[in-house]
Amino acid sequence: MRRNLLWHSTEHLRYEIREIVEFAQRVNKLGRKIIWENIGDPIEKGETVPPWIKEIIRDEVMKDKSYGYVATMGELSTREYLARLNNEFGGAQITADDILFFNGLGDGVARIFGFLRREARVLGPSPAYSTLSSAEAAHSGYAHTTYNLDWRKGWIPDLEDIENKVKYNDAIAGILLINPDNPTGAVYPKDILLGMVDIARRYDLFVLSDETYANIVYPGVETARLSQVIGDVPGIALRSISKEFPWPGGRCGWAEIYNQHKDNAFKAFVQTVIDAKRLEVCSTALPQLVLPKVYSDPRFKLHLEKRNSIYHDRAEEAVGILSGIPGVIINKPKGAFYFTLLFEKVLLNDKQTMHIAEEKIRSFIEESVKGMNPDKRFVYYLLGAKGICVVPLTGFCTDLFGFRATLLEVDDEKRKTTWETIKMAILEYLNS
Ligand SMILES: Cc1ncc(COP(=O)(O)O)c(C=O)c1O
Repeated sequence: MRRNLLWHSTEHLRYEIREIVEFAQRVNKLGRKIIWENIGDPIEKGETVPPWIKEIIRDEVMKDKSYGYVATMGELSTREYLARLNNEFGGAQITADDILFFNGLGDGVARIFGFLRREARVLGPSPAYSTLSSAEAAHSGYAHTTYNLDWRKGWIPDLEDIENKVKYNDAIAGILLINPDNPTGAVYPKDILLGMVDIARRYDLFVLSDETYANIVYPGVETARLSQVIGDVPGIALRSISKEFPWPGGRCGWAEIYNQHKDNAFKAFVQTVIDAKRLEVCSTALPQLVLPKVYSDPRFKLHLEKRNSIYHDRAEEAVGILSGIPGVIINKPKGAFYFTLLFEKVLLNDKQTMHIAEEKIRSFIEESVKGMNPDKRFVYYLLGAKGICVVPLTGFCTDLFGFRATLLEVDDEKRKTTWETIKMAILEYLNS
């Protein structure tokens, strides 16, 4: 080519949750059956969408309106409905003009970071869901700047660390949080959220809160939405139906924007994101048309309650089986549907192995793990020896060692066997 076609920061575009699939497929080709524990897709893991939700979608499909464009920011009646719903929570009040729909939050994240001034950095959690950390790194051209989620305190944000990073790095323009969190399953108490907003207020920053799992909080766990703690600070909450209906293939997510009129720079940034969306006309119509009907149906609350109590029970089960290994830390998730298992660093080295009877698979794994991060090395052995595909923690913008698995398997026997197999595999690997 006459010119270099590569964008300046392509090395930051990493998504281990899917990258591990490619490797697992190669292991599968060598004869190992794979149990997919890498991806947060409830449908893929056997969950069924309740028939009443499908009926609402079916009825909407029969209407011609579902086949047209909607407004650039999203279907007006849906945005009005969501604004009313937000306002009922009693915090920051919004109107339909403060809501912007995307083709899934993946698209939303790409646009928000894509149109943020390159020098304006967003401080995000570590570990972090890689779509967010990669998008921030790619927009800036530098490694993502992070604050620690403290595993000693159940993976809650370390406020002191946040304040120090903000204080000594004036490029930071915003703070990102994910609540409930992916990959840790942590749910943040209200006072932690207030603490984060307070830092944002004192240093004149905006807050970006990924609330993909806002409705997946286990029974008895208390938290707050950004709107309830944001006060007069500029903020954006990101919401999605992917995990709630669940309908990840519907590609429907939206941003709720708080206090955009209170800061000119923030308002101008929001307007840029809207203008960029206009070039695309609009986001997928059907899920937007369906949304108020599903959300306002009395069965939706029951549907969420039922799922939350199932995930809660599975979290107890996983933690019950996997805890008790010295140096291996597993905090009980309180929301979303993931857990993170952490290895103390001294536990892992580059000599450890698991028994793999099949010569072809063994040599493939041995060849592949050379020079690899210690937790990814464990994950590759787990794949080769047991066919279980989890995601190494170092794929989540952290240098901590561990892995993330999901609580999504619907087959009780298979799920329990998977946890037990992982436990045996850890013991075998650590003692090899
Ligand atoms: C924290 C978080 N944010 C955003 C997304 C993207 O969701 P979607 O693009 O399906 O709306 C996910 C998906 O797993 C997620 O876990």
